[in-house]
Amino acid sequence: MKVQIIYYSKTGNTKKVAEAMASELGVEAKDVKKETLDKSCLVFLGSGLYAGKIGKKLVEFIGKNDFNGVNVVLFGTSIKGEGNEVKEMEELLKSKGAVIKGRFYCYGNFLFAKRGHPSEEELAKAREFAREMTK
Ligand SMILES: Cc1cc2nc3c(=O)[nH]c(=O)nc-3n(C[C@H](O)[C@H](O)[C@H](O)COP(=O)(O)O)c2cc1C
Repeated sequence: MKVQIIYYSKTGNTKKVAEAMASELGVEAKDVKKETLDKSCLVFLGSGLYAGKIGKKLVEFIGKNDFNGVNVVLFGTSIKGEGNEVKEMEELLKSKGAVIKGRFYCYGNFLFAKRGHPSEEELAKAREFAREMTK
């Protein structure tokens, strides 16, 4: 199964999760600003949450690409850890015809909040999740 891992990350937390998944699957995680969509792949898409929203570059990426029938796995990080970034991506992608295969989210530190996150345990869970998604 061909896999793409694409992320938007302002402060590096989502990038960490993306890279954990990527190393598990033997691919390279790519910044959304530098990647083009390959519709034939299982596409992992990730973002942090910023004032309740996903990164604008990711909104643009979703907007400009044809996701009809594309299999997508979502992941994200935030201090609330409730997956609101995943929910926003899911809504945008569903309206574009993407097929959502799975969701993963965890804490990401910001200033003094959620220090140490994503933790080693969360990164291990991310790796396991990535493996499951590609079985
Ligand atoms: C400008 C900014 C705004 C943020 N707003 C929220 C927010 O509304 N809710 C939340 O749970 N976390 C918020 N956070 C925390 C981030 O979602 C969290 O640190 C996340 O891991 C960032 O991902 P990144 O390091 O990949 O950019 C904010 C962080 C930044 C930098």
